[in-house]
Amino acid sequence: MANTLEKIISLSKRRGFIFPSSDIYGGIGGFYDFGPLGVEMKNNIKRIWWKNVVQQRKEVVGLDSSIIMNSKIWEASGHTQHFTDPLCECKKCHKRFRADHLVEKLKTPGKLDEHGTFNQEELKDIAKVIPKIKCPECGGELTPPRQFNLMFKTFIGPVEEETAKTYLRPETAQGIFVNYKNILDTQRVKVPFGIAQVGKAFRNEITPGNFIFRTREFEQMELEYFVKPGEDEKSFDYWVKERMRWYIEDLAITEEKLRIRPHRKDELAHYAKSCVDIEYKFPFGWSEIEGIANRTDFDLKQHQENSGVDLRYFDEPSAGRKQYYIPYVIEPSCGVERIMFALLCDAYQEIKGGRTETTKAAKEVEILLKLDKKLAPIKVAVLPLVKNKPELVKKAKEVFELLKPYFMCQYDEVGSIGRRYRRQDETGTVFCLTLDFESLEQNDLTIRYRDTMKQERVKIKDLIKVLKEKLEN
Ligand code: GAP
Repeated sequence: MANTLEKIISLSKRRGFIFPSSDIYGGIGGFYDFGPLGVEMKNNIKRIWWKNVVQQRKEVVGLDSSIIMNSKIWEASGHTQHFTDPLCECKKCHKRFRADHLVEKLKTPGKLDEHGTFNQEELKDIAKVIPKIKCPECGGELTPPRQFNLMFKTFIGPVEEETAKTYLRPETAQGIFVNYKNILDTQRVKVPFGIAQVGKAFRNEITPGNFIFRTREFEQMELEYFVKPGEDEKSFDYWVKERMRWYIEDLAITEEKLRIRPHRKDELAHYAKSCVDIEYKFPFGWSEIEGIANRTDFDLKQHQENSGVDLRYFDEPSAGRKQYYIPYVIEPSCGVERIMFALLCDAYQEIKGGRTETTKAAKEVEILLKLDKKLAPIKVAVLPLVKNKPELVKKAKEVFELLKPYFMCQYDEVGSIGRRYRRQDETGTVFCLTLDFESLEQNDLTIRYRDTMKQERVKIKDLIKVLKEKLEN
């Protein structure tokens, strides 16, 4: 399984999906860059999310708030105090670890017996367990855990003084809460309504890892859905079901590789009354791709108290009485990179012995990235059968120019046609269009389907219509 992970990482780099950041300077831990195919795929994910969450709902509006905000926001939200992870360090090799992750590992079957001394009850107290276990790298002694704040600090203006200090946002949600009143005052929204945002978030993770699963810079897609107190649990249940549906139907992720995991009370964030994770079965195990939380009226109340601005919602009078309340908030929150990673894992297939004559002959393993057509970075590749026939190359380039305004296309004339099909299959390109000698006479070409390798001839004059139908249905 670890092997699959390595293969996906290697494919991602080799084919221009994901590069380690600052590579030529030796890299920088926990940061990644997204190459030409990666950025297309991320944009597709964000577009599909926005369409479902904003465009198709009359009661949800969008927002794009700033990354750096007044530091009072982070005091009010509780992040300066509570947005921490327990950190411990090996006294010998000086490696740092998430203390809760080390303890969590002890809970996996087999591990507990190995360490012998703990029962499940004792494992709840991280501070007591850590001094009794050894560094997983060198066996050295570990320091007692201390709370480490995950927010990246920065300064506004030229002087690095306390009053100029603020943070890069660790979640996009706070930008939504502090704009809640602006939205109420300018848009015709009524509770229940939602505000959605897609944008960068930053966390100084102690142990980034598992490729793009845990990074220090990432993109979130968050919805804050404001409801009347008392209607929160019904709305929470709705969003959990709806978000699961989205992964299965809209992103076409394998249903058996998705599950819902409710949070235990001791793992709830400081603002949450309840929370469930949607998890995907990655090659390294089940892990969170989305969290859906009932944040209650915590955030708006905190901002009301700290800013002095009235954030109550004035509802329609009921039984002749005025109704003021602070809405409750249901929050589905997911990470673009984690979803992209899950999609890559889900789509990655190896066909031993190959599918084409070329690969069968060479006894090669063929890689197929079976991404849903909505998610595939490149929809269409245009390939002249050979590159040493100028009329054919010219015609293929004309087809490429014709399609470019409508679809993400690639033109490729390098290598045998078999090799070019393989390159496109590896990156999930939905259709390959091949122009052969007959194309010059007939003004047509062959459409090759990625998954079945079925081929059919289509007249160039009908191409745009045919491709639109195939890609949209
Ligand atoms: N506003 C709520 C919130 O931020 P979270 O569970 O901490 O909740 C939401 O984060 C989502 O953001 C996660 O489900 C995950 O997809 C993504 N995410 C969080 N930390 C991340 C990290 N270090 N690297 C990549 N994605 C991350």
